[in-house]
Formats: sequence, structure tokens, C-alpha cells
Amino acid sequence: MCGIIAVTGKRASVEVLTSGLHRLEYRGYDSAGVVVHDRGGGFSRYRAAGGTKSLVTLDKEASAHVGEIYAGIGHTRWATHGAPTLFNAHPHLDCNERVAIVHNGIVENYRALKEELLAKGHVFSSETDTEVIAHLIEVELRGGATLTQAVASVASRMRGAMSFVVASVDEPGVLVGFKRMAPMVLGTDGESWFLASDIPAILDRASTFFHVDDEHVLTVGPDGATMADLSLTPVPLVEFHVSWTLESAERSGFDDFMSKEIFEQPAALRDTLAGRLDADRSLMLDVTTFDADELARINKVFIVACGTSYHAGMVAKYAIEHWTKLPVELDISSEFRYRDPVVDERTLVVAVSQSGETLDTLAALHEAKNLGAQTLAVCNVVGSSMARLADAVLYTRAGPEVGVAATKTHTAQIGALMMLALELARVRGYLYPQEVAELYGQLQEIPAHMDEALKLWDTLADLARKHSGISRFYFIGRHVGYPVALEGALKLKEISYLPAEGYPAGELKHGPIAMLDENAVVFVIATRTRLHEKLLANVEEVRARGSEVVLIGNPIDAGVARAGESFVGVPQVHPLFAPMVDVIPLQMFAYHTARGMGYDVDRPRNLAKTVTVE
Ligand code: F6R
Repeated sequence: MCGIIAVTGKRASVEVLTSGLHRLEYRGYDSAGVVVHDRGGGFSRYRAAGGTKSLVTLDKEASAHVGEIYAGIGHTRWATHGAPTLFNAHPHLDCNERVAIVHNGIVENYRALKEELLAKGHVFSSETDTEVIAHLIEVELRGGATLTQAVASVASRMRGAMSFVVASVDEPGVLVGFKRMAPMVLGTDGESWFLASDIPAILDRASTFFHVDDEHVLTVGPDGATMADLSLTPVPLVEFHVSWTLESAERSGFDDFMSKEIFEQPAALRDTLAGRLDADRSLMLDVTTFDADELARINKVFIVACGTSYHAGMVAKYAIEHWTKLPVELDISSEFRYRDPVVDERTLVVAVSQSGETLDTLAALHEAKNLGAQTLAVCNVVGSSMARLADAVLYTRAGPEVGVAATKTHTAQIGALMMLALELARVRGYLYPQEVAELYGQLQEIPAHMDEALKLWDTLADLARKHSGISRFYFIGRHVGYPVALEGALKLKEISYLPAEGYPAGELKHGPIAMLDENAVVFVIATRTRLHEKLLANVEEVRARGSEVVLIGNPIDAGVARAGESFVGVPQVHPLFAPMVDVIPLQMFAYHTARGMGYDVDRPRNLAKTVTVE
């Protein structure tokens, strides 16, 4: 949600900023802008509004006019406060145009701060919350503070999760950043320093990466980078390793990131599962402060996540309860923290998140820690806020996911959570080691089954064409088919904007069945689970209402499709692993439907990849 990039040093250029913004575009694309500190001694600002065209306009404008620079900051916006207009586009300036800022997040108390500043005669030129930060820094600088001192002092006055970078004309080449529960990473190539909201933005520039800590101020300039807490006591920078390649963050011949990432699923899952078991078959977490004995003492699991990650968590609930007999609660992160969850030191709270930065899940993780729970993050971005906060981390090794609609990280999350479920079963003694080994073996075969499912690409393209006039879709399933149904509906909604609902098939008759008629298409996740027969009875209820049925099933059940119905055959696997295979045709259906309607699948309207506001 909003992307920030900044550069200072010998290689500082407008191109570093604009190319970084292109890579950050998945975080928001309402408008874009840069401010550069040019060699003439002042700031030059270029901004553009107009959705996905903003960056193209910015490229032309800024690149044509700016020569050598000391430093620069750039931003791609996902609007929160103020419409996506040019005036609200970042960077924002203070009254005298001596301070420039790019910001991600929300200043929750901005109204009070703005009133205070207006009363002192400050003039605002945008409706954003961000602009108050520029004016507050202006006040501090006028009082004789350095930019670093000004940021430290202003940071403590603001409420809310945010990260921002500021520059001042009075300190050429110096950039100061601040981070609080919103992403920011520091990188260098030895000659220049780069700050960004996410690693891919600077993957082609930086060779060394450093964590930026919450509630810390980072000062970057020609002489290097230093970090300090808000009392300005220096804190050492901690380096971390990034294994992502530049190629992994490029489209590599595919039309878009979404199709590339759909096809990367077998590899992403293989990497996530590879080399995880040690000699005694225990799961090797990437980071852990608790051991197997402590894990064995857990008496409840709580999974918190949002969106697609929540659907992965839902699959895990079925598996953990089945294999370990531990009670599992599952919560949407934004609900968890406001509803007095019953959590104690024997609860394992598992935060599931691709980005590791989703504010609601991060806040839920904080809450879980405050309540004394053991915490584990399942996330894809190394060094992300959740990975740094949790007691233990299990990384999905899916590589960078750029398409806004999550695909490969979803199936990798399910794979990671299955390993966690098996580990809990092992330490609790609910499964014999050989049973665990046997299930692991089956899990490792899932990528090959996914390869088979991916061969259905053209079949799903045909199906999307067949249903191109349909305006209402339903997705139903039972047991682990239910989260698959929810995910299928979410994918279709978010990239094609068509009304689509996911339901537990057994629940249809309690209300939603009233919606069914001959104008609706119902996708049924009908692969083999122990509720298969009951599910087929639910399909009869749908048929009786005249709706068209599409069955996602195992080839042995092809016969259950009636004349005129569509049957999409996917390989039969262990029922608890089936969601990783069954979801693939649904991703592909959403993809082809959206493309058929002429939509940009990588940049669905109103959405941002990483949601760092509440
Ligand atoms: C949907 C999608 C979102 C995310 C959700 C959580 O395709 O991508 O629903 O799953 O915003 O994001 P993470 O996993 O980064 O916490």
C-alpha cells in the first residue's frame, strides 16, 4: 500500500527512482511522483496522476528534465486520505518547499496536528495526512534541528503505522527515514544507498541489505548509513541475506506476472518443502526460539491471516485438527485483536502472510505476543516485520510475488502449514514417525500433480469464454473444498470484478440457494474427500434450481457430470493436500475471465499487494 523508494550516493539518478517505482507499482498505482535534490542546489518535483499511466507520464517528464542529482525520493500511491489527484500525489513539501516527504501508512492523529499547524499559519496544498509531517519537520528545522533530530522529534508526535523518507534542501544528499510497523528496507552497492518499501524495488541495485527497525530513524548520506532510536542513541545496522534473483522479479516472457506466478507454483512448493527435515525427521524452522518440547506443550493453535492467506490458514485448521487433535481457532487478523481472544502461553499463534507486512496481521501478532502466546510467522519475505517479530519463522520459498492476486504464495503457504501440522502431530505423538514420513512423501509429490493441473490452461480458457456472458458465480465445496471455494471466488472477484461468492456446500440450503437460478454458474469443488457423497447431494440441489454446474473433480468421477455440464479433471491426491491442486483451475478461470474482459490482471482496481493500513 503505497511504495517508497529513495537513493543517495554516486549512482543516484532519476532512473533509479522511476525503475524502482515500476517494481513497486503493485503496492498502489493511483499516482506517482519524485523529488530530486539537483546539483543546482534546490528540489525539483515531478508528479503524475491517472492510474497505471502515472508512471509512464512521470518517466517522460522527470527523465527528460533532470540531470545529475545528489539524492531523490519517489512514491507510488494507493490513496487513503484525499482523492487520487495530482495535488494529492507524493512527494509533499512544506510551506517553503525546503522539505520533501514520501510516506506509506496513515497518520491517525493528522487532523489535530493539521489544525495546530493551520493555527500557526501553515499553508497546505493537499488533502493528505502526509503533508502534516513535512510541516512538522519544517517547524523543527526552523528551530535549529538537523533533519535527523527533526524526524526523531516528529515521529513521537504521530500515531499510526507508517514509514516515510524525507529530504531537506539544507542537507544535500542526506535522506532520513522512519519506520513503524510498515515496511522499509535499506540496501547498498558500496557507492550508493537505497531505501525502499520492498526488496524487488532495489534488487537490481543493491548487493547488501539491512533491516530497518521499528521506531528507529535512519540517516543515509554520502558518508554511509546510521540508525538510531528516537532518543538518537546509535543502534548497529544488521545485514540480512536476500536469495531472490532479479529474474525472479521479472515477467520473463509471460504476458503478465499473474500467469508467470500461476506456472511457478510447482517450483515454489518444491522449494518450500525442500530440505526441511533433519535426521530425526523433525521440521527445521527457519528461525526459532522454542524447541520441540515447548511445541509439544502447546494446547491450542490460533491462526491469524487476511484474504488469500486466511484461506490457506483455513486449510491448515482441518489438517492440524485431524492429525494432532489440537483445537484450532482461525481468525481474520482485523477481528482478532479487537475481540478479546482467549490466548495464553500454551497457545501457538500462527500468523500467515505473504508479505509479512500486512498491518492487521502484524498487529494481531503483536497482540498475541502481549498475551504471552508462542508465535510463529509463515511468510514469504525474508526479514519482513512479522518474520522479525515472531518467536519462530517458517518461510515459504516462493520467490517474489508481484501480481496483486496471490497465487504461488497461497499454495506454498498451504505446503508450509501442512509441514507444521505434521510436526505438531509428531511432537505430540499422534502420528508414528513412519506415518509422518509417508505423508511427507505424498506432500513432496504434490508439485508433480500441480504440473498436471497446469496442463488445463487451455481448457480453462475455453470455459472462461463459454461463461463470458455470466454475471453471477458461486463456488461451493465441503471440508477442505470450502476454503478452495472461497479462494476461487476471491480470485474471480478481485481481477474480473464479477460478483462471486464462496460457500460451504452444505450451507446453501440455509439461505444462499435462494439466489440460484438459470443465470448463475456454480463451481463445485468435487474432488474426493470423506464428504464426497454428501457434496454430490448438494450438487443435486443446485441442478434442481436450473443453475449451470462446473465440477472440479478427479478423473474417476467424470461420470458424475450430467450432459451439458463441464467437468474439469484434476489429479487425485491425499484429501488434505488437494487444495494445492484444486485451486489451480480456479486461478486459471479467474485469469482467463479477467483477460477476456480486457482487464489488467496484475493491477486490479482499488487493490494493493501489501496492505499496510488498518
Ligand atoms: C488476494 C490477496 C490478498 C492477500 C491479503 C493478505 O489475492 O493477495 O487477499 O492475501 O491482503 O496479504 P498477506 O498475505 O501479504 O498478509
